[in-house]
Amino acid sequence: MVRDPHSYGNAHEVCPSHLALQLTLNFTQRRMDGRCDLTLTWSQPDATYIDLDTRDLTITAVTDGENRPLNYELGSPHPFMGSRLRVHLPERQETVCVVYHTHPDAAALQWLTPAQTTSQRLPFLFTQSQAILARTWLPCMDSPGVRTTFDAVINVPPGMTAVMGAHHETHEPEQGRFCFTMPYAIPAYLIALAAGELAFRAISDRAGVYAEPAVLDRAAWECADMDHMIRTAEALYGPYRWGRWDTIILPPSFPFGGMENPMLTFATPTILAGDRSLVSLMAHELAHSWSGNLVTNATWGDFWLNEGFTTYFERRIVEALYGNDLAEMQWLLGQRTLAHTIDRLTPTEPEYTKLCMNLDTHDPDDAFSELPYEKGANFLRVLEHHVGRPAFDAFLQQYFEDHAFDSMTTGRFLELIRDRLFHGDVTDWDTLRIHDWIDRPGAPDNMIIPNSDHFERTRAAANAFMSEGQLPAPASDSWTPAEWLDFLNSLPEEVASDKLQQLDEAFDLSQSGNAEILYAWLAVCIRNTYEPAFPMVEAFLCRQGRRKFLQPLYSALWANPRSRDLAATIYRQARPGYHPIAAATIDGIVDLSAH
Ligand code: BES
Ligand code: ZN
Repeated sequence: MVRDPHSYGNAHEVCPSHLALQLTLNFTQRRMDGRCDLTLTWSQPDATYIDLDTRDLTITAVTDGENRPLNYELGSPHPFMGSRLRVHLPERQETVCVVYHTHPDAAALQWLTPAQTTSQRLPFLFTQSQAILARTWLPCMDSPGVRTTFDAVINVPPGMTAVMGAHHETHEPEQGRFCFTMPYAIPAYLIALAAGELAFRAISDRAGVYAEPAVLDRAAWECADMDHMIRTAEALYGPYRWGRWDTIILPPSFPFGGMENPMLTFATPTILAGDRSLVSLMAHELAHSWSGNLVTNATWGDFWLNEGFTTYFERRIVEALYGNDLAEMQWLLGQRTLAHTIDRLTPTEPEYTKLCMNLDTHDPDDAFSELPYEKGANFLRVLEHHVGRPAFDAFLQQYFEDHAFDSMTTGRFLELIRDRLFHGDVTDWDTLRIHDWIDRPGAPDNMIIPNSDHFERTRAAANAFMSEGQLPAPASDSWTPAEWLDFLNSLPEEVASDKLQQLDEAFDLSQSGNAEILYAWLAVCIRNTYEPAFPMVEAFLCRQGRRKFLQPLYSALWANPRSRDLAATIYRQARPGYHPIAAATIDGIVDLSAH
């Protein structure tokens, strides 16, 4: 077992193998009250204690399975690691029971008031445990290398529905009691719960959508391809091992696009574009059912093994379902994102531009960027090109089968490609620059450059618009969202206000229902201080809380002296509605104390 710098756990000695959770959700006090009973597996019989991860938990009692008190110490809190909970085990106890409650500001939890929901009738709660936030709502070994099964009893106020990424057992909704079991061993970062006014619609006998009632129709329409997606993914990399695949469309403050909680993907409502153009996000979360949830990064320094594989797999699903053209466009958009990310991180954080990162003294959340996604996916594509698609697909299928429910390190993965993909012959290792891909900052220059005729048109249109003032009509009438994104991303840093006005009037970009296009457009407007779009900037930053959109837009507003005050004004107004994860990020950009 590899050492995980982000967990206090002594998993090599004694390790939880099952968790039994009983939690009562108290919306008035914004806290969960309850207990977590951990079943232990001993590999070091003479161990005398177990160390668990906690952060901001109040522990009221620790006992063994017979209700006898056990001695314990709670360590002093570390800013992102939290407090070590050391429980002394005088005998080889089979069970440790921790009675506790959470803090109102627990970083994994967002408690929404009725006013922050669509129907405005009931409050709402959802969790976000990845990367190291599970410890803010349950005592556990919060390392991706430690897997447990679990069962849970969740008590909620009248009228509410609770859902978890798990099998649903007999619920007693009238009693506000919901029961779940997770029969597969999963790491703590994948344990997830949501509660609120929720409705469900089946898409097939194994896929469906949960959402607030007012959102359900749109959600079900957008997600209609889910079953088809599962079949497509299975044809690529083998059976879907988790039974059901449901999705919950969360309120707009969900800080991510999607989160691959097993059996139940959590998703932002910003994917509801009305034309299914953003469902590649669903393909991404589904792909994690193999890369991430079956084969899991051993530590957060190996994060690319989760996200790079998943991005590669996502584009293979898109290719199979929606065609090569769209997949190639996504590869190209991704390469542009990669180049920008490398430019942004190289001056201050070159470590974060490596695939395999040393995060020993870092919060994994600080290292988060699109780099592991795009650099990782492009590395796998280089391998695919070298050995040919059939050999690469066979290798990946075998990889998911051999290492299912196990964790993987970058070093182990390199051994596997050497032995299984190159059959021990490493003659091409240097030509492919494998060590540069893995261990060096930046990106090697042997990336596969996709063809895309579409983008020749969008780039020519961007040039013609800049040099001759010619608007990109009429060909643009048939542009797909990917082409619009490429057009907007191809505009130079500086675009004059009269040009932006022409574009907005001709194409109504400020009114786009596609959140990715709106975001790309607003980024152009902010960096050029195009003030007519500022009301839309404000509206967009206040109506959704996806960090990927908030972070660059606030950074651009703050970097521009002419919009710095506006950044503070908007943030002061929007912050109470943001998730703690998003607020923590924006706190590092917009200094409210100075404005
Ligand atoms: N697992 C990630 C989200 C995540 C990563 C949460 C690290 C916390 C820490 C999820 O699968 C993801 O990558 N989501 C993306 C969408 C995707 C299409 C790139 C997002 O949220 O934008
Ligand atoms: Zn992902």
